[in-house]
Amino acid sequence: MESHLEKQNRDVLQKSFEEMICTLPKENCWGFSEDQYQYQSFWFPPRFLQGALSAQQQFQAQPTDIILCSSPRTGTAWLKSLTFATITRASYNDSTTPLLSKMPHDVVPFIEFDHAQFSTNRHLGVPLLATHLPYSFLPRSIIDSGCKLIYICRDPKDTFVSLYHFIVGHCKSQNTQPIQLDEAFELFYEGVSLYGPYWDHVLGYWKASLERPDKLMFLKYEDLVEDTVLYLKKIAEFMGYPFLSEEQQQGVPENIVKMCGFDNLSGLEVNKTGRHRETENNIFFRKGKIGDWKNYLTTEMAQRLDQRTMQKLSGSGLSL
Ligand code: A3P
Repeated sequence: MESHLEKQNRDVLQKSFEEMICTLPKENCWGFSEDQYQYQSFWFPPRFLQGALSAQQQFQAQPTDIILCSSPRTGTAWLKSLTFATITRASYNDSTTPLLSKMPHDVVPFIEFDHAQFSTNRHLGVPLLATHLPYSFLPRSIIDSGCKLIYICRDPKDTFVSLYHFIVGHCKSQNTQPIQLDEAFELFYEGVSLYGPYWDHVLGYWKASLERPDKLMFLKYEDLVEDTVLYLKKIAEFMGYPFLSEEQQQGVPENIVKMCGFDNLSGLEVNKTGRHRETENNIFFRKGKIGDWKNYLTTEMAQRLDQRTMQKLSGSGLSL
């Protein structure tokens, strides 16, 4: 429970963040009702930026924490469900897992939304947490504690198309006017997108994964789609929860993959009709396919985005 003094301190901090945020460069874009603010070269809605600043000051990571990191729309909810099911497999099975009644974002909390103030609140006693923050924004205690991080990223073209649909869906549910695709494309291309520039977000984690491969596992959504069982085994190993050979013989990894598969999760009542904060859960599950960008981007748009990706990632050893 938060004491009176803690609440007072929190209010003072919040006020100082609000005052600082007001001074930042801002854009009214993507059809959001509130302006987006640029801080240390990344773009955020003001609430998320406040959460980030607050987490930087107050969040205390534990060495046993496992932090799932991503840009929005790159497979966060899927990674949450796979890792949650893997870590809790001794306590739950396919018919008792909390994933049947809670959407993945409700079983693995986000640091900058849910944990900024109450850093000791470890949901369900599971060591998993998540964040969309860029690497350079991570609270110092995450790096100092030596806890593990898993980052997932995705082809920028599919990330953009997925983000666009997510925001259109969000605007519709808020009764605000959605942005046109070509306008959104230019913003994404220029780096003005949720937690963007997208490439800088990816590069921050990529470089850190090269420096600390034992602490940061770098994944691509496409690889996870291509061979989910193989990558789930690698993830389990990395997290320190490897599948025993007996479990492998019983098909435990395959069962988890099936339970967390797009068709299964998107068909659950909670994910069809429930809500996560102000967003309807079904908006989090769209198609779950590689290459859906072909249905929305012109050849010219795709080429421009590919060129930007090559330019941004050039010399990094990473391709997307
Ligand atoms: P699409 O919009 O291309 O379908 P995030 O969770 O980071 O917001 O990512 C959302 C993307 O992951 C969406 O992509 C969504 O459909 C997809 N997704 C959600 N659950 C998935 C699952 N179980 N398997 C594969 N993809 C999934």
